[in-house]
Amino acid sequence: MVKKPKIQKKAKKIKVAAKKQKAKAAPSKPRVFQTLRGMKDILPGEYKYWHFVKNKAENFANNYGYEFIETPILEETALFNRAVGGETDIVSKEMFSFTDRGGENICLRPEATASIARAYIQHGMLNLPQPVKFFYFGQMFRHERPQAGRLRAFHQFGFETLGDGNAVIDAEIIFLVYNLLQDLGLKTSVQVNSIGCPKCRESYKNKLVNYYRDQRSSLCEECKKRLVKNPLRILDCKEAGCEPLKEGAPQIVDYLCDDCKNHFVRVLEYLDDAAVPYNLNPYLVRGLDYYTKTVFEFFSEENQATGQKAEALGGGGRYDNLVEVLGGRPTPACGVALGPERLITKIKENNVDVPPLIVPDIFLAQLGEQARKKSFALIEDLRRAGFYITHGLTKEGLKKQLEIANKLGARYALILGQKEVIDGTIIIRDMEGGSQEIIDFVKIVQEMKKKITNGIAK
Ligand code: HAM
Repeated sequence: MVKKPKIQKKAKKIKVAAKKQKAKAAPSKPRVFQTLRGMKDILPGEYKYWHFVKNKAENFANNYGYEFIETPILEETALFNRAVGGETDIVSKEMFSFTDRGGENICLRPEATASIARAYIQHGMLNLPQPVKFFYFGQMFRHERPQAGRLRAFHQFGFETLGDGNAVIDAEIIFLVYNLLQDLGLKTSVQVNSIGCPKCRESYKNKLVNYYRDQRSSLCEECKKRLVKNPLRILDCKEAGCEPLKEGAPQIVDYLCDDCKNHFVRVLEYLDDAAVPYNLNPYLVRGLDYYTKTVFEFFSEENQATGQKAEALGGGGRYDNLVEVLGGRPTPACGVALGPERLITKIKENNVDVPPLIVPDIFLAQLGEQARKKSFALIEDLRRAGFYITHGLTKEGLKKQLEIANKLGARYALILGQKEVIDGTIIIRDMEGGSQEIIDFVKIVQEMKKKITNGIAK
């Protein structure tokens, strides 16, 4: 082998060092950040759908006497452990829980019912006239495997009635959601069941365990564990081996005690009277442990033509023992939560006519520094007079500004140019017809009031 001369080796060393130096000195391009997996931004273009759903839900809350409540997104992990149940998927697999700087075990809330029950106890709301009815709308977090309709950060809104055990409450909540979904332009179906109270559920659980024990070899690994820990959840398993088995499983309605049976019959009677269509689903169990008696779930319609599958849009039920489980006095309760992300997907799929967000009544276009200065005060005068106004104060040409006005859907454009500033006038342009008129500048607010209260623009 021919040895490289020393000088050549040295030159190579110098080159490599220079390259390294250059790489160090060159500013590296900053990393571009993204939302976390399963989390989404709600962009302005989406907002009309959110406004549509939120506005309707809030109107329903007001009309049905539900008061607004907001609880913190962070809570003690133990709250959900106790309320939702340590063996549920939500708590055992999906919680964003961590130890904070103070050493406390806290989590991002996976749902809000437990927080509402906590707040009810914490603030002594038992002493208020009962029932106490709450409405909420907020973000929830579940560390699920992200897929269509299943996010890690999502929203829920809900209606919760605490302090009344009457079956009419269960029916009213189902009725409310049924009407709300119709108002949102969605065709849905509701499945209803009763899972009884801890007393009657115990004898049912034994029957269920006996039934599934005989079929143990067909169950998935998870359900083999559920057989010991939470047998009712086997009814909810979608695995190929488990799902068909539920057809032959004993049905809980056959094991209800008299109180639970009467309650369920009354709920169904109220629904019949209100002509709410429902399907009895004897295997509906829900994924949270706090439920007693009535449980229900709302599904979107399946559409074979478009391939749209039925999807759970919301669910709920009675939870008569939750307040007591959390250290409060016995307080019957019932509630429901819906997922706006899923509702919005269905609203789009079904081409529901969703009104646009506020459209400006007036777009103010200006030309020249003097006009720009004069526009400033005029915008405030028009805003105070109650008009939705926007402007092109940072733009130069008139054409460009009128294009923006058009894009925003403004009904009128006001044009203030150098000539108008000198003459003490302003131009009103009807954006639909394109006609223009010149008005005395001091009369503009009055003039716009005439036009817009004539019902032309609003
Ligand atoms: P849930 O069935 O777990 O019930 O959730 C209610 C709704 O929240 C679902 O039907 C769905 O629309 C939405 N949702 C749940 N998880 C996700 C997710 N990962 N991504 C998108 N949307 C989701 C509850 O949470 C109970 N707290 C309901 C309740 C209120 N029961 C009594 N009161």
